[in-house]
Amino acid sequence: MANFTAYFTFFALIASAYAWGYLPNDGPPTWTGECKTGKLQSPINFERRTMEPTRYDKLIFMHYLNAGIVNLTNNGHTVIGTGFDTWGPYQPYIFGGGLKYKYNLVQFHLHWSSNDSTGSEHTVGGLHYSAELHLVHVRADLPLDVAQTTPDGITVIGVFMALGVQSSALTGLEGAIDKISTFGTKVQVNHFLPQTLLPVNIDSFYRYEGSLTTPGCNEGIVWTVFPDPIFITLRQLFLLRKMRTRAGTLLGTNVRPIQPLNGRVVRHDSLFFRSIVTFY
Ligand SMILES: *[C@@H]1O[C@H](CO)[C@@H](O)[C@H](O)[C@H]1NC(C)=O
Ligand SMILES: *[C@@H]1O[C@H](CO)[C@@H](O)[C@H](O)[C@H]1NC(C)=O
Ligand SMILES: [Zn+2]
Repeated sequence: MANFTAYFTFFALIASAYAWGYLPNDGPPTWTGECKTGKLQSPINFERRTMEPTRYDKLIFMHYLNAGIVNLTNNGHTVIGTGFDTWGPYQPYIFGGGLKYKYNLVQFHLHWSSNDSTGSEHTVGGLHYSAELHLVHVRADLPLDVAQTTPDGITVIGVFMALGVQSSALTGLEGAIDKISTFGTKVQVNHFLPQTLLPVNIDSFYRYEGSLTTPGCNEGIVWTVFPDPIFITLRQLFLLRKMRTRAGTLLGTNVRPIQPLNGRVVRHDSLFFRSIVTFY
C-alpha cells in the first residue's frame, strides 16, 4: 500500500482530507467546503434555454492517436487511468477550442450508476446517459501543484457513454476493469489508445465554467462536454458495478446530483453554427 499513495497524488493535492463517498452516510449531501458553499459547481443540466451559440477555433487533440502504457486503478471512488506523464514527448495534450492554454492529459476516470438510466453526471434536457467519462487535463506551463490551485489550471473533457451492443471505447480496458474490483488494485494496460475515448464528432461541444464533481469540488474548472456520446456495453457496466470501496462495500453509484447554474451561460460550439457564420 505504501507506493499506492503515489496514484492519489493528483487528487491528494486538491481533495479534502475527509472520507467521502456516495452512500447515505458519506454521500454528496454530506460533502463540505466548496461542495456545500460553491456557486459554480458541476455537474449541470444542458438545455437550449441557457445556451449561447458560440464559434471557437478548432479544439485540437494532440497525440491521442499514440498508444502507450496506462495503469488502471480502483481508488475506491472510481476506475482511474494514469501514467500519461511517462509518455514523454507523446503525452497527449489539447489546445484551441477557446482554451487559453495548452493542457496535458493526466488521467481519465468514469462515473456510472447501478441504474442504466442515471449513470452520467451531466444531463441533457434532464436526461442522463448510462455513464460518463472524464478526461482531466492540467495546464502544461505550470507545475502540477500550482496548476491545480490556479483558476483555469484544470480543464476536463466530459464524454457521455450511451448503452450500446458494441463499444470500441472500453474494449481495450475491459480485462483490466474485471481485475480491479477490490479497492487499491491496479493493472497495467499496454498499447492504450486515448483516441478510443473520444466521440466521432469533436467539433461540436458545450463549454462552461464549473468545478470538480468530487470533494473538494474546486471551482475554476473549464468544462468541455460533447453532445455526441461514445458507447458502453451492458457487460462493461456490470464490470464497473463490481467495484468496491475502501471499506469493501459495493461502490454502486458514483454520480453527483445536478448543481444549480446560478446564472451561468453554457456556450455551444457546433459545425451548424460555423456554417451559418461561413455562409452569411
Ligand atoms: C504503473 O505502476 C507501476 C508501479 O506499480 C509503475 O512502476 C509504472 O511506472 C506505472 N506505469 C505508468 C505508465 O504510470
Ligand atoms: C432507474 O431510474 C429511472 C429514472 O430515475 C427509474 O424510473 C427506474 O425505476 C430505475 N430503475 C430501477 C431498476 O431502479
Ligand atoms: Zn469525474
